[in-house]
Amino acid sequence: MNILICGGAGYIGSHMVKMLAGQGHQVVVFDNLSTGHKEAVAGGVELVMGDLLRPGDLAALFSRHHFDAVMHFSAKSLVGESVMNPALYYANNVIGTINLLDAMRNHGVSRFIFSSSASIFGNPLQERINESHPQAPINPYGKTKLMVEHILRDYHAAYGLRSVSLRYFNAAGADPGGEIGESHQPETHLLPNILYSLLTGQKELKVFGREYNTPDGTCVRDYIHINDLCDAHLLALSFLEKNDGAHGFNLGNGNGFSVLEMIHSAEQVTGRKIAFTSAPPRSGDPATLVADSTLAVRQLVWQPKYTKIDDIIATAWHWHQNQRF
Ligand code: UFG
Repeated sequence: MNILICGGAGYIGSHMVKMLAGQGHQVVVFDNLSTGHKEAVAGGVELVMGDLLRPGDLAALFSRHHFDAVMHFSAKSLVGESVMNPALYYANNVIGTINLLDAMRNHGVSRFIFSSSASIFGNPLQERINESHPQAPINPYGKTKLMVEHILRDYHAAYGLRSVSLRYFNAAGADPGGEIGESHQPETHLLPNILYSLLTGQKELKVFGREYNTPDGTCVRDYIHINDLCDAHLLALSFLEKNDGAHGFNLGNGNGFSVLEMIHSAEQVTGRKIAFTSAPPRSGDPATLVADSTLAVRQLVWQPKYTKIDDIIATAWHWHQNQRF
């Protein structure tokens, strides 16, 4: 297939590009490189520099290429930043996506896979979050993702656009070959920060919040390997061939790990002691976020391969030790 990957130079997008290209698909990456890295785009794949907020960039892209489907990974994705600067989030994540969907409409492209997020659910009301959980985001980032999901339902009803929204829980780990991995500037995510604290010895690891209502008082998250997420995208594409509609699936491992458990697992994997200090909680962090992915397992026939947290951390450690960008 001919597939457009928006945000294909970013963490999740670049892993998707590598997987698709490896399977013989024709892939074009569209990215403004605001947070992505051109070095992360697999060799031989065309990288088109452009911005979703400039409809002219999209018109030029779609008139030069024919696409069978679009996967949309481009987004601002930091909860804290979204609270401080919601305008940035509503513009990039909502207006940018509308521009992309309208370019697709203008060029007759009707298959869309959207990177949504666990944050559309807000504070969990049940132990594991399934698709029926109320959608009540508690920060602008989550609201932008939920708005796009609503837009996708309306675009299906009015224009016949088929879509799957994949609600990631905590994407983690790296390409097992060690060529690409998680590299943000500044880095705010837990696992890379744990590993950086070991590698550089400069940035002290902080544990944000020790008094949450969880077994050890630190936040619990559901870490899912990046390639398992990418597998779900491929399955979602096949699903859209057979199923009309605007669909949503939750993607996680179904097991929660606290911040302290993550530190402990990283100590096991790296064989090193990890020093940390306690810091106040980050605003907008729910205590626990764990997925119930039964629907994706059943309907997409998705089966995560990285079920052990140590294996996920090992792939990240491999990448971080040889990081090139
Ligand atoms: N944490 C630390 N120290 C750090 C970094 C993180 O203690 O240096 C803690 C956080 O407070 C949180 C947990 O580790 O409790 C996980 O934090 P991450 O930043 O790694 O991930 P989040 O759960 O905050 O964010 C993820 C995605 C977001 C998405 C969110 C949904 O990265 O894009 O889940 O709530 F919005």
